[in-house]
Amino acid sequence: MPGLRGPSDYSKEPPRHPCLQINSKEPFNAEPPRSALFRSYVTPVDLFYKRNHGPIPVVDDIERYSVSVSGLVENPKELSMKDIRMLPKYDVTATLQCAGNRRTAMSKTRTVKGVGWDVSAIGNAVWGGAKLADILELVGIPKLSSSTKSGGKHVEFVSVDRCKEENGGPYKASIPLIQATNPEADVLLAYEMNGEGGALPTGKQPLNRDHGYPLRVVVPGVIGARSVKWLDSIDVVAEECQGFFMQKDYKMFPPSVNWDNINWNTRRPQMDFPVQSAICSLEEANAVKLGKVTVSGYAASGGGRGIERVDVSFDGGKTWVEASRYQKTGIPYVSDGESSDKWAWVLFEATGDVQRNTEIVAKAVDSAANVQPENVEDIWNLRGILNTSWHRVQVRVGHSAM
Ligand code: MTE
Repeated sequence: MPGLRGPSDYSKEPPRHPCLQINSKEPFNAEPPRSALFRSYVTPVDLFYKRNHGPIPVVDDIERYSVSVSGLVENPKELSMKDIRMLPKYDVTATLQCAGNRRTAMSKTRTVKGVGWDVSAIGNAVWGGAKLADILELVGIPKLSSSTKSGGKHVEFVSVDRCKEENGGPYKASIPLIQATNPEADVLLAYEMNGEGGALPTGKQPLNRDHGYPLRVVVPGVIGARSVKWLDSIDVVAEECQGFFMQKDYKMFPPSVNWDNINWNTRRPQMDFPVQSAICSLEEANAVKLGKVTVSGYAASGGGRGIERVDVSFDGGKTWVEASRYQKTGIPYVSDGESSDKWAWVLFEATGDVQRNTEIVAKAVDSAANVQPENVEDIWNLRGILNTSWHRVQVRVGHSAM
């Protein structure tokens, strides 16, 4: 839409929290300190990790902003924010995790390509918006469709922002139509994050610019790369998106593949993220007092699988204690239970005895009994994605308290 988007440069970036650890300035990639994560089940917007591939676009005329929904559909439409807000609104608590979370640790084994991240390229938010399944119904695609009459099988999201990986073109991604039209998959076009917004105009921006103002896709349980921000158009297409980030990035290769023998076509784009956990109350290396130590962190799994268990070792992985898990205060967390937020992480806490210098280790088990791999070497891959190996922190016993 002409007139809506400012120039694609870095002179109009939004203000950001000073506590963020900046991993790259242009494009802006930053994560909060570990301690911000376990302190709050819902991650505050300004401390939520920010992952960008280009400058943050400027969408300043919301009245003229619209999203086109077209492609292999009966009844293509151009939807304004008003049209989208008229649909039933859902609030979905979902954890977003970048596939590159914990990449820095993987790169210590062998060099990998990509922005370095500690354990905080993950956050949990309450996303408010319309269900994609309802939007697709407006253009004539019934719920639970795996293809359209004209052969559409995938839903492609195209953004407003421009990035160099796409040779100056827009960021894009797709998901299968069957997921997009399944109301239970909770795929949202979100215009709110953590309840900010509501009745407009409020003065407050309904969705922070860094996180996709005015409208973004949220695909719960799937790596963050598919949750396209600053949505421009939705295209129903026959084949999955052929964009860079689907075909030449965010794919998981075995440790034997290097930049000389890589064949991108041999792998599918990564969708669900695997089971993950990290200790967030301690840094990589710590001084602790001899005796009881309590640690806290997060655990999450993709595809809507809950967290069945989190094991914590206070002796480098020889013996384990089971951590307590929680989401909401006063409600016991049950993996895949009715009252649990199925797309959200759980926080955990465990106490153990530290008698000598050692490693404190965490590993989570999801509701399908998938467990995190022990060693990062075994899952090393050249793009450094999905480091879900046991999370280890070093502790040195001393006199100073943590
Ligand atoms: N959407 C657009 N348009 N441009 C991007 O650079 N980055 C993706 C995804 N959506 C990206 C995007 C990646 S890799 C991740 S992990 C998430 O957005 C990060 O979302 P956040 O910055 O809101 O945490």
